[in-house]
Amino acid sequence: MTLFPEMFDAIKQSILGRAIKNNIISVDAINIRDFAFNKHNKVDDYTYGGGAGMLMQAEPVYLCHKAITDSIDSSKKIRTVYLTPQGRVLNQEIAKELANEEELILLCGHYEGIDERVLNEVVTDYISIGDYVLTGGELPAMVLIDTVSRFVDGVLSNDESAMTESFSEGLLEYPQYSRPYEWHGKKVPDILMSGHHENVEKWRFEQSLIRTEERRPDLYKKFVETHEKDKKGRFIR
Ligand code: ADE
Repeated sequence: MTLFPEMFDAIKQSILGRAIKNNIISVDAINIRDFAFNKHNKVDDYTYGGGAGMLMQAEPVYLCHKAITDSIDSSKKIRTVYLTPQGRVLNQEIAKELANEEELILLCGHYEGIDERVLNEVVTDYISIGDYVLTGGELPAMVLIDTVSRFVDGVLSNDESAMTESFSEGLLEYPQYSRPYEWHGKKVPDILMSGHHENVEKWRFEQSLIRTEERRPDLYKKFVETHEKDKKGRFIR
């Protein structure tokens, strides 16, 4: 549900575009303005109590939501997510949870927000994509669609889904290299040229640990707290 449905053309590319074409997921951008049954298709108005800015009114949002839910098989449980900096901060775990739903309605706000009364009636989940403020909910909605879709069976190829395993372990990805062997005087680490699969895996895991400790000490701390070490002091995965 959005005032800017054209923005969602951006996700019809690449991996999500392929998934949409193959009918693995579908994304419909519904224009809230189509449900503003007044003179000028107006969807916003001044806020009671004063203050700067316009608020999206309850009725068009409500009618748009009702039209969508009426069009969905009533046996399906529907979650309605409002994208807002006031929500739970999106992470892999929440994405995985939402990927189990058959239907999701994403509500994108604009201006200064949406009349509280309609939010209370239709929204089941408040989700933020991070502690910063954007001009609207469209980009956050697309971020959510992208990360949730990666957990839907058939969206990623085997190669593509293998790439995600590192982060799902709670660590950052190890460094990677492609041809040429030497670039700007820098060579690819010897171990990757050795063909010794087990050593390569070990090296990659160590690199993930080093990188995570350096760049995301918060994630590293969590990993250390939840993983045991073997007799040689190496983490058991
Ligand atoms: N709308 C505006 N800013 C947002 C954010 N950080 N996350 C989700 N929705 C938003």
